[in-house]
Amino acid sequence: MNYVEEIAKLKKEKNAIILAHYYQIPEIQDIADYLGDSLGLAQAAANTQADVIVFAGVHFMAEMAKILNPNKKVLLPDLDAGCSLADSCPPESFSKFREKYPDHIVLSYINCSAGIKELSDVIVTSGNAIQIVESFPRDQKIIFAPDKNLGGYINQVTGRNMLLWDGTCEVHDQLTTEALINLKKLNPDAQVIAHPECDGPVLALADMVGSTTAMLKYTQQTNFKKYIVASETGILHEMQKCSPEKQFLVVPKDETCSCNDCPYMKMNTLEKLYLALKNESPEISLDQKVMERAKTPIVKMLAISKQLGLI
Ligand code: 13P
Ligand code: SF4
Repeated sequence: MNYVEEIAKLKKEKNAIILAHYYQIPEIQDIADYLGDSLGLAQAAANTQADVIVFAGVHFMAEMAKILNPNKKVLLPDLDAGCSLADSCPPESFSKFREKYPDHIVLSYINCSAGIKELSDVIVTSGNAIQIVESFPRDQKIIFAPDKNLGGYINQVTGRNMLLWDGTCEVHDQLTTEALINLKKLNPDAQVIAHPECDGPVLALADMVGSTTAMLKYTQQTNFKKYIVASETGILHEMQKCSPEKQFLVVPKDETCSCNDCPYMKMNTLEKLYLALKNESPEISLDQKVMERAKTPIVKMLAISKQLGLI
């Protein structure tokens, strides 16, 4: 079966759109109608005219698309495509934590469940987090959830003291300074770029820190021949496509392995995507009230991002 052709036929028939994150396998990235980072994907989901959205990403992303489009069908090729970061922040425990700090507002990274989104005041992504934090007065008390690495990085850049939930992304958090330093020794001419989900000591060694889209743009707008990328492997596909003459090296987990693949992102395959479109399943369904409450902080994020000229 030629999945690419069959998917194209079904998309037309059903007025469907494929939204894909940069961490998807290259074959999926290449057939996406929109390929982007979480901020771009949220914007694409908010603006689509399609009747069916196939979200080639993980569960929290498809949930976000459903929350923004409660009357549309949102499909996720593999319902088990979760996220360690989202899982590190269960709504029941977070709710108890939040109750202890009634004078704090809650800013949550988009990598969280709808249950956390409904407990949040504003959602942020790695593409707008610093600017959104800075849009609040300096004396505003803030809880930041769920990523302690991104939160710590924002605290460091902005000089704030946000209270951090203790969550991490298992893919980025495992990258070590040792592996990065070893790779840099072998490639002293390479620029080091890192995603803010990496931990502080790794970020401290980077020449540039940013979201997947920001890193991609940086590789297009600078003239280095080589880049060491402290992030997930998927992003290298688009980097290499946009700059075929440059070399991209991913920071290995350790000396023997370069397994920087997010196990959840990589659950989606062309076959599963084809079947999802054909069967219109697995579909994301959420409680109406949860969707209404979770929508407010996402819409706020999009409005602030627009106001700040970020989208
Ligand atoms: P961004 O694509 O928004 O940078 O997020 C990275 C990520 O880990 C998505 O799960
Ligand atoms: Fe979650 Fe990390 Fe995978 Fe992104 S890369 S989906 S944050 S586990």
